[in-house]
Amino acid sequence: MFTDFQFLADSLPCGLIITDHDLNILYCNDFARERILPKETDAPAVNMKEYTFYTTDMRKFNMTECMQSMIDSGKRNFHKTLIVSGKNLERLVYFSVKGLEDRSKELYLFNITDISDEMDCITHSPGTFGKGDYLIRKKIIGHDPKMDEIYRMINLASEADVNVLIQGESGTGKELVADAIHELSNRRNKPFVKVNCAALTETLLESELFGHVKGAFTGAYKDKTGKFEQANGGTIFLDEIGEISQSLQVKLLRVIQEKTIEKVGDNKSVKVDMRIVAATNKDLRELIRKDVFREDLFYRINVFNIVIPPLRQRHLDVPVLVEHFIDHFNRDTYKNIKGVNRDTMKILMDYPWPGNIRELRNAIEHAFVLVKGSIIETGDLPDEIRKKVNRRLADETIRSKDQELSASVYYSDSFRKTRSGRLKINKEQLTDVLELNDWNQSKTAQYLGISRVALWKKMKKFQL
Ligand SMILES: Nc1ncnc2c1ncn2[C@@H]1O[C@H](COP(=O)(O)OP(=O)(O)OP(=O)(O)O)[C@@H](O)[C@H]1O
Ligand SMILES: [Mg+2]
Repeated sequence: MFTDFQFLADSLPCGLIITDHDLNILYCNDFARERILPKETDAPAVNMKEYTFYTTDMRKFNMTECMQSMIDSGKRNFHKTLIVSGKNLERLVYFSVKGLEDRSKELYLFNITDISDEMDCITHSPGTFGKGDYLIRKKIIGHDPKMDEIYRMINLASEADVNVLIQGESGTGKELVADAIHELSNRRNKPFVKVNCAALTETLLESELFGHVKGAFTGAYKDKTGKFEQANGGTIFLDEIGEISQSLQVKLLRVIQEKTIEKVGDNKSVKVDMRIVAATNKDLRELIRKDVFREDLFYRINVFNIVIPPLRQRHLDVPVLVEHFIDHFNRDTYKNIKGVNRDTMKILMDYPWPGNIRELRNAIEHAFVLVKGSIIETGDLPDEIRKKVNRRLADETIRSKDQELSASVYYSDSFRKTRSGRLKINKEQLTDVLELNDWNQSKTAQYLGISRVALWKKMKKFQL
């Protein structure tokens, strides 16, 4: 069908793809086949919709809408996007699309320039939008400027083969960050081993980390390889490092210094080579002050430090995270939820998220169970979130009322006692003071320095 054209097209150093109106791929040149379309184990794409496109700030890119606007405007703007297809194929490209007519059939011509290799050269330079950034931003969602710093730190940490300490409240994404550091580092093809230091007793944790030999203690029926050895060549993630006992701290310090381990019940040293990424939601400096955590160990693991801000300090991220989790649960549950309504978004933005992103994820998961139509409404949110926000809003209303009142109340001080000892107050002022005292008549009377009967008379006079 395209033979003449094909010869020319295959010589081009850029991708050309022709699709029909429904984006079924009718033709692609050699460059597109080699660089853009999935290879080897994955079957070649037959429809452009099989690709996921991301914008430069890692928002999902709506190809159909974009094409329509390009075609409508007649402009051939180039869009910089990341195309993800197949298992791991990710290409950073510029693309444009043009509408064509062929025997009254509507066709689309995609012109794709691959810039992934150029991006490789600048991947880790601070402040630049590198390929590493794309990989990270796809997993770790965040638009708030505070997150740019986190992305930059992940890039730097993944480049340097040093121990990293990640700090942040519960649910802020410490594990996700640890994972990204390993994935982007040169150790990515070696194991990433996770250990939760808070989940085990001291003895069990020691045997988990170092392994043991048969008969080392009651119940040690056979030799066991520890996590340090399992992580050899790769990364070990020590979660909740603030929880480890003093004696294990000493042992961990020795592992870091000597790069060797001894199994429990054995005195043979085994060489290990691993990077330690530790995480904690505790303030380790405080633990050092309290003599619970060793300062020398702290400096050994805190060679590179990443502090993840809590969600309440980056409220800008709430809408993108909501979108991200809706996407996630749509895929998981085969639902087609389009979004949240305005009131729900307001609640989500106002809520302080003490459990951070994990709590937001759970809230959206909860809403997926209750949602009736395709839009999440306030009633679909967990009760405690709605109640807390409503209570907070009510408190704020009272507080701002207090502020408004303070002017009139201050002024009321002057009317509180006239020379004749009578209270001069108008209806509006009395209403304000009553409101300030929650309409409690005893408190209001006391506040105004009059008897309850006198207050009652005033209220009757003003028909309150
Ligand atoms: N920036 C983010 N983008 C997308 N998902 C996130 C982000 N941060 C956290 N999550 C998700 O929130 C949940 C909690 O994240 P994670 O387990 O990494 O937190 P944590 O800081 O290790 O919490 P804890 O201190 O309780 O162990 C996970 O489901 C994770 O995928
Ligand atoms: Mg964690």
